[in-house]
Amino acid sequence: MSLSSALRLGDPDTFVAGVPHAAIADLRRTAPVAWQEIDEGPGFWAVLRHSDVVRVAREATQFSASLGGVVLEDLDDDSLEMMRGMLLAMDPPRHQTYRKPIADSFKARIIGELEPQIRQICRDLMVEAADRGEVEFVHDVTSGLPSRVMGQLMGLPEDDWSHLHGLAERQTSGQDPDLIAPGEGPDYSASIEMAMYAIELATARRRAIDAGRTPPSDLTTLILEGDFGGQPMTELDFGSFFVQLVTAGNDTTKTMLSSGLLALLQHPDQLAAVRADASLLPGAIEEILRWANPLHYFRRTAVAPTRIGDTEIAAGDKVAMYYTSANRDPEVFTDPDRFDIGRHPNPHLSFGIGEHFCLGVHLARLEGRVFFEELLGAFPKIELVGEPVRIRSNLNNGLKRLPVRLET
Ligand code: HEM
Repeated sequence: MSLSSALRLGDPDTFVAGVPHAAIADLRRTAPVAWQEIDEGPGFWAVLRHSDVVRVAREATQFSASLGGVVLEDLDDDSLEMMRGMLLAMDPPRHQTYRKPIADSFKARIIGELEPQIRQICRDLMVEAADRGEVEFVHDVTSGLPSRVMGQLMGLPEDDWSHLHGLAERQTSGQDPDLIAPGEGPDYSASIEMAMYAIELATARRRAIDAGRTPPSDLTTLILEGDFGGQPMTELDFGSFFVQLVTAGNDTTKTMLSSGLLALLQHPDQLAAVRADASLLPGAIEEILRWANPLHYFRRTAVAPTRIGDTEIAAGDKVAMYYTSANRDPEVFTDPDRFDIGRHPNPHLSFGIGEHFCLGVHLARLEGRVFFEELLGAFPKIELVGEPVRIRSNLNNGLKRLPVRLET
């Protein structure tokens, strides 16, 4: 029996003990577009080759993000409608109408201006961690960064950051019984509360503008003054847009930081190399993203019949782009299972590609670099003091616990 025949990529339990890379490689060789069953609803096509993932991502009108959403599970009507309000699940041309007005604010040069603030946030986190010494790295150290950065970017009062952080944390992985209350799904009430917060923020900002006050130059103002297909965004739309911006960069960034630290601890020679020469960090971040991609996949739905390689795809079929597989495709990466911070070029697909290419890519890279500069600078010695524990999820490829000792 081949390694891959029992592989069930849609089952969250598949990834709990570790990503089954050997079985995925086996499947990619024998069935690069593989039919997979899931418990809830119809199965899906797992697209495993790098070149095929690129094609599906680029053909945004053939492979719709909106039709069935971007996750494998079938969503109820309300959840699907809510997802369709996010950039991630919009199709062209509507997608560009919403993406264009804010895209400039996420360009490398503009995001680069945030470096001093991001550095200060990272320094505060390191001071808090140094006081503890032994920490659960995911929760105690990484989780503070993305929400504080979004607080800064959106111009939220600093007193609100921890509230926002709590709401973002409550939305984490709905497939892990350890992270949600028994019998419950993802905590949608946290999204609704966050959307309400954003609606109040938008209303107050617009009132201040109407009263003749100059608004602060932040992302909130930019969105509220933006032109979305000939009209401004309503307060209600701003609510879901805000939720998407905060949540899209939350788990993914935390995962990049915690899986990144684990990868470096597991490869002490490479950790020593980045400690000795910080200019290696940007390459190390790319390799962390390739080797420990924070998201396993995103889904599309075929709009019309087509083929991917030799496989016939019917209209309405679910098609999942497996970054976890594409990032280790030997057609593109030499010695793909090797963690190598000097790998160049490194065309990993962890940020997607094409129409929906991650809007926060420059922010994520900046947060990654500055965070590790500050972490390695603050702690000359970092060691594992317990077993890392992975999140139970078929989507999030991350850790929920990473116990480490940080020594100054
Ligand atoms: C390591 C961190 C991150 C990873 C791995 C990541 C990954 C991704 C991926 C794979 C997509 C493409 C989805 C697709 O093709 O369907 C995406 C889209 C997106 N990301 Fe990120 N992301 C990260 C950080 C961030 C941050 C910090 C933000 C902050 C604003 C962000 C905002 C977005 C948005 C708004 C989209 C939707 C873009 C669109 O549909 O046009 N991401 N991200």
